[in-house]
Amino acid sequence: MDYDVAEREIKKMIAGSKNSNLLQKVVDYLYENFERYSWVGIYIVKENDLILGPWRGEHATEHTKIPIGKGICGSAAQSGKTELIPDVNKDNRYLACFVSTRSEIVVPIKKNKKIVGAVDIDSDIPNAFNKQDAFFLEKIADMLSKHIC
Ligand code: SME
Repeated sequence: MDYDVAEREIKKMIAGSKNSNLLQKVVDYLYENFERYSWVGIYIVKENDLILGPWRGEHATEHTKIPIGKGICGSAAQSGKTELIPDVNKDNRYLACFVSTRSEIVVPIKKNKKIVGAVDIDSDIPNAFNKQDAFFLEKIADMLSKHIC
């Protein structure tokens, strides 16, 4: 899937969507159109934790509540910076969800400079994410930020 095409389609999806299923639709789109994206989820900040919202993948994760500052997700939510992890087994912050996961990307969702959530994507392929994924997902996170309260 071409990143520009995906960006345009997601933009259209968001503009045309009136219902509360929007975050799930975007998760579904990413999961269905990028083969490398083995698990896609959106966490929402609630007080000092990240709470799992819509997700798509073969299995549910036990990490439905992650304290800010913990794991890859919590680190991204604390720093406000995208985390690109080529090998999850070499990062001691990593909170394991699925035995098949090899690499991960977490992109914070910011609204008026405040971190309100994170997009978390796991891949069963080692080193599956690059700067283009980061750039693309940061744009998607920005679009989503307007729909998170
Ligand atoms: N691996 C994440 C936890 C969430 S699961 O990947 C779905 C982390 O280290 O924060």
